[in-house]
Amino acid sequence: MSLIWRKKPISAFEEDMKKSTLQRVLGKWSLTAIGIGAIIGGGIFVLTGTAAHYHAGPALALSFVVAGIACIFAALCYAEFASMLPVEGSAYAYAYGTVGELFAWLIGWGLILEYAMGAMTVAVSWSGYFNKLLKLFGMELPKALTSDAFTYTGEGFAMNLPAFLIVWVVTAILVKGIKEAAGANNLIVVIKVCAVLFVIIVGAFAVDAANWVPFIPEAVEIPGEDGKPHAAYGVGGIFGGAAAIFFAYIGFDAVSTQAGEAINPKRDMPFAIITSLLICTVLYIAVSLVLTGMINYQDIVGDALKAPVAAAFEKAGMPWAVFIITAAATTGLISVMLVMMLGQTRVFLGMAKDGLLPEFFKAIHPDFKTPHKSTILVGFVVSLVAAFTPITVLGDMTSFGTLFAFAMVCGAVWLLRRREPNLERGFKVPALPVVAVLGIGTNLFLIYKLSHLAQLLAVSWLAIGVLVYFVYGQRNSNLNKKDKTSA
Ligand code: ALA
Repeated sequence: MSLIWRKKPISAFEEDMKKSTLQRVLGKWSLTAIGIGAIIGGGIFVLTGTAAHYHAGPALALSFVVAGIACIFAALCYAEFASMLPVEGSAYAYAYGTVGELFAWLIGWGLILEYAMGAMTVAVSWSGYFNKLLKLFGMELPKALTSDAFTYTGEGFAMNLPAFLIVWVVTAILVKGIKEAAGANNLIVVIKVCAVLFVIIVGAFAVDAANWVPFIPEAVEIPGEDGKPHAAYGVGGIFGGAAAIFFAYIGFDAVSTQAGEAINPKRDMPFAIITSLLICTVLYIAVSLVLTGMINYQDIVGDALKAPVAAAFEKAGMPWAVFIITAAATTGLISVMLVMMLGQTRVFLGMAKDGLLPEFFKAIHPDFKTPHKSTILVGFVVSLVAAFTPITVLGDMTSFGTLFAFAMVCGAVWLLRRREPNLERGFKVPALPVVAVLGIGTNLFLIYKLSHLAQLLAVSWLAIGVLVYFVYGQRNSNLNKKDKTSA
């Protein structure tokens, strides 16, 4: 039993970093762009409609504030860890150094929900935007090539071809090199930040302040997305909205998987984690205010629920804006996939270095200096699931995996502060016990607010993870080998 609590010594992390063969090319703004690249994606352009209509009304902006606060607590804790343990494994590694092996494994396993599953859902959303863009140019792909095999209603073979192909484009960039990946990401980030600013500035002129009144509509029971009655609006609706849009914030933590490629990780990663989150929080609050001001939350129904921002601009008599938003979202989602898959391979790399995953995951290409085998395997799995299954239904599982890791990091940072108060920390969370407790509380509360199906599936996923740990991880762990040598 004691084996599940064994911890990786901090000195062993430092040794690993010295031996790393990844290329150190990322400066503080590239790292910040990695955060923004992962954060701004489909979430802000899609989930805002559902969250306003079914949960918060105009108080959607407050839902973004609540989810943003939960993320800030987590971001501060990630920043302290990143300044102290600059290793690729992110939350997995932090748990290994503090709580113990089984828990670390579970976090690593849970991060597959965030990164690989996140990339799958984003690939399917990307295909949706891409098809829309084609339609704006008067072209269309056959339904059999844009649908997954399960929901396709026609005869014969079906696959989501655009989703499949885009994953391989991203995989190729990631195999080629971190410099190339960061370069592509920087360009995409500029495009999507401009698009978001466009929505805010141009949209502000079409706001009708009457749509904001009452800002927090009275709490009522209305039919939910599934048709069943659910409590909407009021203060409770603000929290329901926060869980619904949480997906839009996912990504800043991926910066912490880049420690092996950062030029000065201890100094620049805390900066990038916090800065990327703050920039996106401000942009998100502004977009949600503009959106609920342009279109009344009660009118966000039908197609507008799928593309609320575009619908608001159509309503304001600016159909050309729809082109800009669709083109920006199509481009923008590529960097979300890029960073999610990047994060996934780096978490695997960290786990493989510790012996918890096979050697395959730590093979580094001699010229490209990237974990090419693991990247191709991740690309293979992500592309197949995105092409053949209705994965978007499971989008909430991505939020589950992320919130689980966030809550754990908040707890672990506190634990390590008590256990190793004298370790050198480039960044320290202010008012730590308070921030850690609030971080754990808010993130667990958002898990509780996710859909029951997602909760059930995610817990089952973690249960499978526990089994795999006992069958593979525990036996092959480097610490196990060390225990045996010393025995
Ligand atoms: N935050 C990312 C998005 O909204 C995952 O697409």
